[in-house]
Amino acid sequence: MAPYQTQTLHPDAEGIDRAAAWLADGQLVALPTETVYGLAGDATSDLACARIFEAKGRPRFNPLIVHLPSREAARGIAEFPGDAEALAGAFWPGPLTLVLPLKPGHGLSPLVTGGLETVALRVPEHGVMQAVLAKLGGPVAAPSANPSGRISPTTAAHVLAGLSGRIAAVLDAGPCTVGVESTILAPGPEGTRLLREGGLPREAVEPLTGPLVPDTTPGTVQAPGQLGSHYAPAAALVLNSDLSDPHAIRIGFGPAEADLTLSRTGDLVEAAASLFRTLHEADALAMARNLPIHIAPIPDSGLGRAINDRLRRAAAPRS
Ligand code: TXA
Ligand code: MG
Repeated sequence: MAPYQTQTLHPDAEGIDRAAAWLADGQLVALPTETVYGLAGDATSDLACARIFEAKGRPRFNPLIVHLPSREAARGIAEFPGDAEALAGAFWPGPLTLVLPLKPGHGLSPLVTGGLETVALRVPEHGVMQAVLAKLGGPVAAPSANPSGRISPTTAAHVLAGLSGRIAAVLDAGPCTVGVESTILAPGPEGTRLLREGGLPREAVEPLTGPLVPDTTPGTVQAPGQLGSHYAPAAALVLNSDLSDPHAIRIGFGPAEADLTLSRTGDLVEAAASLFRTLHEADALAMARNLPIHIAPIPDSGLGRAINDRLRRAAAPRS
């Protein structure tokens, strides 16, 4: 029996009030951001953070992103070394997460940071998320609102498909516009490390930071990457397909014939926005007909890098 009757809230004043009230009460609410839907809980509450791990079935060592209304709020929690001020000034609010050294007295649950001396902070742009943050008046921990290892949600329906009965509510504000998770950067005295490709393309960042440093620090917790299989559909997934095999659910990119498409015009922004929705849809078709999913090659530039990163993990051998 599911412990919760998960409610669907509307993106109006009443929905925003109820979402904030549930969060203040230590409950979980899936909230829209411009990247993907987040599984939100009060970042200062151990109980709420523990519930996030439980609802996702997520490995405990994986720390969570903390969402804040503004750079000013972030300054109360963390230091801004190296390129951090410039990055926050240029790209917050938006699809950028910064991993920063914690300040004493930050007030966050140790479950959020996984016991690290750093914290991942993000100021999202989505108006509804901003309204909930303002109403709550505190930091919100929010990983993507999917069961651990599965495809990230870009609609409220995706959230319910994975987490119905496990969370108090989902606030439905329609599809996410960016469609892939935030880019994660760790600025420091030795330059800025790239921890995860995401909704902010590297080409936009490097004019400001210089070349990003690949993340090679041994033993550190990394973005959902080193976990081989991630974002995985239930069906088998074949990458870089020429789509010639009709015994597959074919996802195209560009004008070539296919069953579904990331972008008929070959537009990477549109492809990112439709990536997880298309994977969800292809997975339903593929499972119903017992077929694999084949997907066309995606150019490895701009948002294409984040798309290819997610596709490689989605296709990785499952353990
Ligand atoms: O777009 C997004 O970033 C979405 C929306 C909801 O904001 N959130 C999201 O969160 O993707 P999540 O929890 O799925 O991914 C957070 C990643 C984790 O894989 C974790 O390893 C990394 O951020 N992370 C968090 N804190 C870190 C830290 N102190 N050092 C290194 N990596 C960290
Ligand atoms: Mg995730």
